[in-house]
Amino acid sequence: MPGHRDTRTLVSLLFVLCIALFAPAAWAAEGSAKQAERQATQPLNNAPFWRDVRGGENPYQTTQVRGIETNVLVQTEGQTWREIHNGPLPLYGGLLLIAMLLLIFGYYRWKGPLRVHENPTGRLIERFSDWERLVHWSAAISFVILAVSGLILMFGKYVLLPMFGYTLFSWLAIIGKNLHNFIGPLFIFCTLVMFTTYVKDNLWRAADFIWLKKAGGLLSGEHVPSGRFNAGEKVWFWFGVTLLGLVSGVTGLVLDFPNFDQGRSVMQLVNVVHAISAVLFIALAVSHIYIGTLGANGAYEAMRTGYVDETWAKEHHQTWYEEVKAGKARQRFADDVPAEIKTQVAQATKA
Ligand code: HEM
Repeated sequence: MPGHRDTRTLVSLLFVLCIALFAPAAWAAEGSAKQAERQATQPLNNAPFWRDVRGGENPYQTTQVRGIETNVLVQTEGQTWREIHNGPLPLYGGLLLIAMLLLIFGYYRWKGPLRVHENPTGRLIERFSDWERLVHWSAAISFVILAVSGLILMFGKYVLLPMFGYTLFSWLAIIGKNLHNFIGPLFIFCTLVMFTTYVKDNLWRAADFIWLKKAGGLLSGEHVPSGRFNAGEKVWFWFGVTLLGLVSGVTGLVLDFPNFDQGRSVMQLVNVVHAISAVLFIALAVSHIYIGTLGANGAYEAMRTGYVDETWAKEHHQTWYEEVKAGKARQRFADDVPAEIKTQVAQATKA
């Protein structure tokens, strides 16, 4: 005869087996009962109700709260915005910036910096006035702050957060956001002043289209004459500074000042347009900054000191050089330049 203990074990095993066998069925039965009950109280899982809620325009959705869209409980476009903002925007924006950096790096490795062929004469021309340089560097510095803080806001969570962790990254993002919001209007002001200051010498001439056709001799090494600013600089001025400056500036103001009854869909659309124009602006600025630093010997000194050597002017902006020589340009030869600046310009041009 099995002992008392064996019986007990057997009964418990049987009990567990029963539970295991019947519980799911019981749960299922209970579940479908609940389901049936819910179908009675909330037919089709309330899909018609939620459709109404999403639609926003229904008699039931009222609120005492005053303001734009206060009666919209679920804003469907928000889902679309989130998918774009977390999907194609950072993906293609990131790819564009990486491609631009690789292109410039490849070109630099292939061709190196643009150099003059003849020796500098030591005779200098004032290429940029004090005012033009002040305007340039105010726009340049505020742009770089906006670009860096904007890139932190757009790519930070993919690139910096895994590296720095939440605490440090959130500090960077907060500082970046506030810098962005305050420097934005300043940059817009600087760009407007820059436009009025530089527009005269950025008007298109017939020679510019020859320059564009020959890509400025950047690939062939051929010498292509240009005015004070070549067609590449004019593309930067009109497409970058003016057009992208305008689009990213206006959309930036709409985002910066959300107190003009802008609804969520307006803010979402403006956010996407702002991000696209800003990434394009940064990609273009990268090529401008390259030419303005490593890419052309003597260019950086032109915007830092205001002066270029005669040889530099002749080889890079021949038509402008001839106008200066003929006294037809606003810029003049400068003979009273401090020796220190003369040395800097000569060294940079020869390098
Ligand atoms: C760190 C950033 C920058 C550097 C190093 C830089 C450097 C330079 C240099 C060296 C020149 C003189 C080129 C020449 O002699 O023809 C120049 C011209 C110019 N830069 Fe920049 N730049 C920077 C950022 C910017 C930004 C952000 C803007 C506009 C938003 C800008 C707008 C201009 C304009 C309008 C000119 C005159 C040429 C033209 O009108 O096309 N720069 N820059």
